[in-house]
Amino acid sequence: MSRLVVVSNRVGIPDGSARAGGLEVSIRPALKKRGGIWFGWSGKVAEERTGAAKTVEHDKVSYITIDLLKGDYEEFYNGFANRVLWPILHYRLDLAEFTRRDLGGYFRVNQYFVENLERVLRPDDVIWVHDYHLMPLAQILRERGHKNRIGFFLHIPCPPPEILTGLPNHERLIPALCHYDLVGFQTENDANNFSRYLANEVGLRRAGDDGFYYEDRVVHIGIFPVGVETEAFTRLARRAISTQFVSDVMASMSDRALIIGVDRLDYSKGIPERLNAYERFLANFPDWRGLVTYLQITPRSRTDIREYADIGRLVGETVGRINGTFGEASWTPLRYINKAHSRSSLAGLYRYARVGLVTPLRDGMNLVAKEFIAAQDPDDPGVLVLSRFAGAARECSAALLVNPYDSEGVAIAINRALGMPLEERRMRHQANYAALTRNDLTQWAERFLGRLEEHVPAETETR
Ligand code: UDP
Ligand code: G6P
Repeated sequence: MSRLVVVSNRVGIPDGSARAGGLEVSIRPALKKRGGIWFGWSGKVAEERTGAAKTVEHDKVSYITIDLLKGDYEEFYNGFANRVLWPILHYRLDLAEFTRRDLGGYFRVNQYFVENLERVLRPDDVIWVHDYHLMPLAQILRERGHKNRIGFFLHIPCPPPEILTGLPNHERLIPALCHYDLVGFQTENDANNFSRYLANEVGLRRAGDDGFYYEDRVVHIGIFPVGVETEAFTRLARRAISTQFVSDVMASMSDRALIIGVDRLDYSKGIPERLNAYERFLANFPDWRGLVTYLQITPRSRTDIREYADIGRLVGETVGRINGTFGEASWTPLRYINKAHSRSSLAGLYRYARVGLVTPLRDGMNLVAKEFIAAQDPDDPGVLVLSRFAGAARECSAALLVNPYDSEGVAIAINRALGMPLEERRMRHQANYAALTRNDLTQWAERFLGRLEEHVPAETETR
């Protein structure tokens, strides 16, 4: 079997710290099983380019990381990746702030990644590139003569061509993905949007059911919804429920029902809209006042970007308003925490919670939704209230699906979830759990890599 080289901006170096982000969570087990290299950014900003990558060896995996310069961090990470690609791919053209300088930084850092990566690359390595930070990577590798099999997986949504064409320089960026042998998406919707873009905007001709001809090669397109390690997460939750941490939370709850939300502080997660829905719920269903506590765990994310600071302020104000309006001396309706928690702590809290609130305005998949399901006690499960705009809604269709923009509808769903009879809770949970086991994380990686390796190397594939 060829060596696996995973490339992503964020690298999950095993240092024991609690971090939030689905990409890291999904790649780690796949690499651990097969071994290989995980290459990417160290998370550090350096004064000058030393050119030296750092390597940490752990459990058959070499973690190789490089630092970014301040200008790279600004233009590539805070700039083009997170101020342009992130909002636009999440259907938010209105939030994109494009500059040519940032676009230049984006290509420069992709080039820098390649220059460092090729020091360790072997001709028969299988390269798996992840997410929107590194879209041009294959094109740069190909231009420098690398003929490896290269796959790309987009963890976040791919919007329809009508939105994609609002991305300045989309003509240069989106077709760059055609230099990969396989491009994977979370849902059918995402894959169809990309295919429509290639057919209608670039005018590419179809190659079989799942590909397009592009220059002298074929790019294949696939749907690979990312999963969780279902059974392992269930075991983790079962153990975590009796830890000191969860016992302390339970003791602080005075038998109130726990509603839980866990998201990075990101506008795509719909946190202000969700808080408004909770406020509606308290207003419209007053019998629940004093009987529920909503815990929202929200680690800060991408803090140097203005939109993220803005959403932080808005959420803080809304939390204050709700607690001020509905709180009592003996009851705080809403607890809001900005600290990242370990997966074990989260697993225990999910299992204890009666309701999981996962209501992004748009999300590639949303692993919290799947983890919440995996964590439940099948005999007495909690209920997931899930946005129809999360990729997870496709598989977890037995959740209470809601439109996150309809705060009254979400308030009704919270009430319904809290009052749901045991029989219905069990039925919904069983259906959702079965969907998770049909496609857990190991299968996700195996399916993607299987498909990538099944294709002959691109340069020998002819029209
Ligand atoms: N997470 C965590 N600690 C936290 C908050 C989140 O470990 O304090 C994890 C969470 O369990 C999940 C991932 O971060 O596995 C978030 O993935 P998701 O797909 O829900 O959202 P993303 O942050 O990738 O947009
Ligand atoms: C999402 C993205 C990942 C990213 C993660 C955390 O999951 O798809 O690519 O790593 O958010 O964001 P950050 O900017 O901290 O890496």
